[in-house]
Amino acid sequence: MQVLLISSSPHQEKSSTFLLAKEVLRSLSEEGISGETLHLDNFRIFFCKHCEACHRKILECPLKDDVSMILQKMLKADAILLASPNYINQVTASMKALFDRSAHFIHCKRLEGKYIAGAVSSGSGQNQEVLDYLKYYGAACGAQYSGGVSAQQQFGQDKKDEALRLGKKIAADLREKKLYAEQLQDIEKGKQYFSRVIKARKDDWQEEYAYWLKKGWL
Ligand SMILES: Cc1cc2nc3c(=O)[nH]c(=O)nc-3n(C[C@H](O)[C@H](O)[C@H](O)COP(=O)(O)O)c2cc1C
Repeated sequence: MQVLLISSSPHQEKSSTFLLAKEVLRSLSEEGISGETLHLDNFRIFFCKHCEACHRKILECPLKDDVSMILQKMLKADAILLASPNYINQVTASMKALFDRSAHFIHCKRLEGKYIAGAVSSGSGQNQEVLDYLKYYGAACGAQYSGGVSAQQQFGQDKKDEALRLGKKIAADLREKKLYAEQLQDIEKGKQYFSRVIKARKDDWQEEYAYWLKKGWL
């Protein structure tokens, strides 16, 4: 089993958010689960042009940057830990740009069966809206949320302990293939909405339509 940590602070290894997320990875490693870290700041991520090429032909994109590699790693991971500092009550622009470029994941619920977790830090300690947004993104892609950890930038042992507990929770979710009934209902609602959209656009978004057919969702 593999957990992918996507960390979006430009401070990279010195980032408070990353240091918190690193504790989650440490805890996962104690459970025998390996982790890989991507610092978004090291990659080129252009803004989505809403050309819809990725809906016509799955994951096709005219923008030649590092996003395709990152999306492939997300598809291979069993769980994804999204770590972002709070930038004006949101994730960083780099994280949002990556999310925008993954619109196909939302149309086809490509993170279904995976778990998402969040790590956020801020100056004020007000992190809930950012964590909620990470959970929302995961659900939009079909993934269940294992939980989140957040802190003010100079955090102490209590927050490290919280991060360690989150690691244990993700490990248990993965091992037990935990199902969260309420979350699955929300994911199903999203699917119902997209089944209408995919049918309406079937002549245009041919590969996404074929994906839905193959999955037996239509
Ligand atoms: C552009 C920008 C916007 C920010 N907005 C907020 C904010 O809305 N609320 C807050 O509490 N902290 C805000 N901060 C502070 C960071 O969230 C905080 O310093 C964080 O711990 C940095 O994490 P890092 O070391 O992982 O980069 C902002 C910082 C920057 C650079």
